[in-house]
Amino acid sequence: MTFYHGDLQAVRDLVREGEVHRDVYTDPDVFAYEMEHVFANTWVYVGHASQIPKTADFVTTTIGIKPVVMVRHSDGSIRVLHNRCPHKGTRVANEACGNAGRFFRCPYHAWSFRTDGSIAAIPLPQGYEGTGFETSRAAEGMAAVGAVHVYRDFVFARLHPRGIGFTEFFGESLSSIDNMIDRSPVGKLEIAGGVLRYVHRCNWKMLVENLTDTCHPMVAHESSAGTAVAVWKQQPEGTPRHPAVEIFAPFVSPYQFYEGMGIRVWPNGHGHTGVSHSIHSDYSAIPGYFEQMVAAYGEERAREILGTNRHNTVYFPNLTVKGPIQAMRIFKPIAADRTMVESWTFRLVGAPDQLLARTLMYSRLVNAPTSPVGHDDLEMYERAQDSLHSDANPWVNMQRLYDPQEAGIATATANGTTEWQMRNQFRAWRHFMAAVP
Ligand code: FES
Ligand SMILES: [Fe+2]
Repeated sequence: MTFYHGDLQAVRDLVREGEVHRDVYTDPDVFAYEMEHVFANTWVYVGHASQIPKTADFVTTTIGIKPVVMVRHSDGSIRVLHNRCPHKGTRVANEACGNAGRFFRCPYHAWSFRTDGSIAAIPLPQGYEGTGFETSRAAEGMAAVGAVHVYRDFVFARLHPRGIGFTEFFGESLSSIDNMIDRSPVGKLEIAGGVLRYVHRCNWKMLVENLTDTCHPMVAHESSAGTAVAVWKQQPEGTPRHPAVEIFAPFVSPYQFYEGMGIRVWPNGHGHTGVSHSIHSDYSAIPGYFEQMVAAYGEERAREILGTNRHNTVYFPNLTVKGPIQAMRIFKPIAADRTMVESWTFRLVGAPDQLLARTLMYSRLVNAPTSPVGHDDLEMYERAQDSLHSDANPWVNMQRLYDPQEAGIATATANGTTEWQMRNQFRAWRHFMAAVP
């Protein structure tokens, strides 16, 4: 183990072109730096507006490891506050979600706060008279995070008050969120079906990298998806394909399928697999849905929306979406070797319910704690997390289809088996692993 205390440059040097040092996955110091820099300098997904429709509705979550609460203020706006009492530091909102009522009330000494974080009341207020309390940090109430941006109901926040702007940070990558929303005939999504959560004993970045790792499905998922396909092939000729087989089968497509699908990279660590097609391209049509889309958008636009079948889009640092099935995963760091995975699903407002049913089935089969597919990946991450402690070689390789020219290219599409997007994430990591701008 190396001690990086105070040496930010040494931490940044753990990332080279085409390889990264194992300490980016295993070292608690490096993890602490990520929380202070990468997760504070970037726009991190917080929640969806549909989770807090009414005044004082709230959701608690984290940005990196910092507790925050997203709340609907009395003026209808969405606020993101540090979930910490300004008095002694107690977490104010403790439930995953709820309604604050008239005020948030700290459970320790009953200071209460409006939904913009300002102090509504303090018991025995005369005890602070003449103490200079009104100019203290505590008098500011529950502090707001540095900046909040709501993009088509997706709520993002940046911890630091200064830094890269929302539009500059995401740029064209927002097209993946757009496509997911545009699949609703009324252009609206709602969180539906709850959330699946499970803790992985590995570093958060392993999960993000896996999302554009197209050389693993036919290998790691042979035991789950491969078995499902083998069982289905034993059915009598003409047996209709079970919806689960429709979901499993593309995982074990040959390398050529993944090479051909393509990968696109964008600035600031964002990118996606599935430029031309993806594992979601060949699902059977849901009766009535296409007609609804044509009525809403016209045939040409409807075909364009539904013909975009991006596989996984990575929003650096830790959000990933699957537009074609309206699923979203968030990888929440807990420690260098602990990550909370959250799988969320959306309802396409105005579309047939069978679409949500398919999304929920996908999540159960692939992303749930009980899923066969997810465990294939989990096993690989946890083996890596353990074996990276070996002294055989401290570097992890990411050179597949590497071209030294690529560092200077902001946006590109490439062969679907390239590790360019992983390198893209680490270039962004190195960039945002910097002091407050
Ligand atoms: S810690 Fe919150 S009121 Fe005292
Ligand atoms: Fe996988």
